[in-house]
Amino acid sequence: MALLLGLDVGTTGCKAAVFDEAGRTIASHTEEYPLYHPQPGWAEQEPEEWWRGVVGAIRGMLADDGVDAGEIAAIGLSGQMHGAVLLDEARLPVRRAIIWSDGRTTAQCRTITETVGAEKLIELTGNPALEGFTAPKVLWVREQEPEHFARARLLLLPKDYIRYRLTDEIAMEISDAAGTLLFDVRQGRWSGELLDALGLPASLLPEVRGSAEVCGHVTPDVAKLTGLVAGTPVVGGGADNACGAVGTGVVRAGLVAVSIGTSGTVLAHADEARIDPEGRVHTFNHSVPGAYYLMGVHQAAGYSLRWLRDTLGFGGKGGDVVYERMTGEAADVPPLAKGLVFLPYLQGERTPHMDAAARGVFFGLSGVHTRAHLTRAVLEGVAFSLRDSWEILREQGLPIDEVRITGGGARSDVWMGILASVLGVELVRTSATEGPAFGAALLAGVGAGVWSSISEACETTIRPLDTIQPDTSVTEQYTEGYGFYQELYPALKDLFPHGVKLG
Ligand code: XUL
Repeated sequence: MALLLGLDVGTTGCKAAVFDEAGRTIASHTEEYPLYHPQPGWAEQEPEEWWRGVVGAIRGMLADDGVDAGEIAAIGLSGQMHGAVLLDEARLPVRRAIIWSDGRTTAQCRTITETVGAEKLIELTGNPALEGFTAPKVLWVREQEPEHFARARLLLLPKDYIRYRLTDEIAMEISDAAGTLLFDVRQGRWSGELLDALGLPASLLPEVRGSAEVCGHVTPDVAKLTGLVAGTPVVGGGADNACGAVGTGVVRAGLVAVSIGTSGTVLAHADEARIDPEGRVHTFNHSVPGAYYLMGVHQAAGYSLRWLRDTLGFGGKGGDVVYERMTGEAADVPPLAKGLVFLPYLQGERTPHMDAAARGVFFGLSGVHTRAHLTRAVLEGVAFSLRDSWEILREQGLPIDEVRITGGGARSDVWMGILASVLGVELVRTSATEGPAFGAALLAGVGAGVWSSISEACETTIRPLDTIQPDTSVTEQYTEGYGFYQELYPALKDLFPHGVKLG
């Protein structure tokens, strides 16, 4: 039986997880790396630290009992989307990567929109200019750090940089290319018209490959460093959201995936490139050939809970145990936390506000509130933000038959119970507990010929594990709470840009 390795280059760390052909997890290891905030609202990572994380995760995973690197038939890559990795002539990064959650590029987004025209931009790329996407980050480097831009010869995304380090091959795969804002999602190719309009050379962009296509092989040097076998094929892989969808079987119309990782996303499979004219949800190419997905994105979902954990001294970075303690305390607090409402805009917000200057808010604090109320408000605030995306996706008229959950947050019964009640829908947890790394491994299996299609891979390996039902006794309260939550942003919107300048 072949083994398949999925590597997920996330925001907090890299996961290496290996699965068998039945989709069972054989071993999984995560290695963390730093996230830098040189200024409020900025977010950067060091590509070399990703690489060290990848090597550490692979070695850790191989050290587990029963994993023989010789049995790994192929490797799939998944990763955080949109990060700009600019390489020089010698293929060394010209600076740290500016990643998806960075909000410094509001001026560049305005330039792109004014240069191209708002409607034309949506026509060419399927999306409006948002700070999170890659193109404005490249323009920022060109404007603010001309010495770095002058040395830049190639633009890669985080997981495609890791592909280069693993295989020496340069390639970008389609679901990630879609998030650059330089890609014509309908035609499935780089938009020459947009590159011309922005004055960016086409030579900056790599060839675009399919998600399940073999794009390279592990080099002998990397084999020595990691313990992998030289020549092991590496497929295109996918954006973390595309891989999260594949890993939960969201590869056909009617299925929706809700993910709580660092970001929170609500993603609906679409057979054609349907576009929200207001640009509140993104339209990207799926890993499934010819398919798309529509997705709302929340900048600080798991990030908000992690921030609370680290800031309020919940103690230790010990993963699930600490989170269980936090959510356990929150479960003892009644819904709506005695009037405490949290806006999870710690890193600005995309859906539905598209406002990089927005900031987090605890509204309604009083002396009755304990840290358990703060946690409850964070869990609920993130659930309300996901409901914003859920409502927009429903407006788009896509069929929704089933909602599947993924990401670290999906492991929490308390959080998923709140989410089911806030959305008013049953949530399905699947057997795929390793998130995007599992989807990447399925793509690797298709590339290696284990399955003939992504659908077959999903049908063979993914089973429902359990379901989380909405609690109808709190529906009314949450409807009211969500209505109030929706009123807070417009009331505060004009204050955020001033607040950002204080202190
Ligand atoms: C999606 C997005 C985030 C990152 C997180 O547009 O920016 O979900 O992919 O890794």
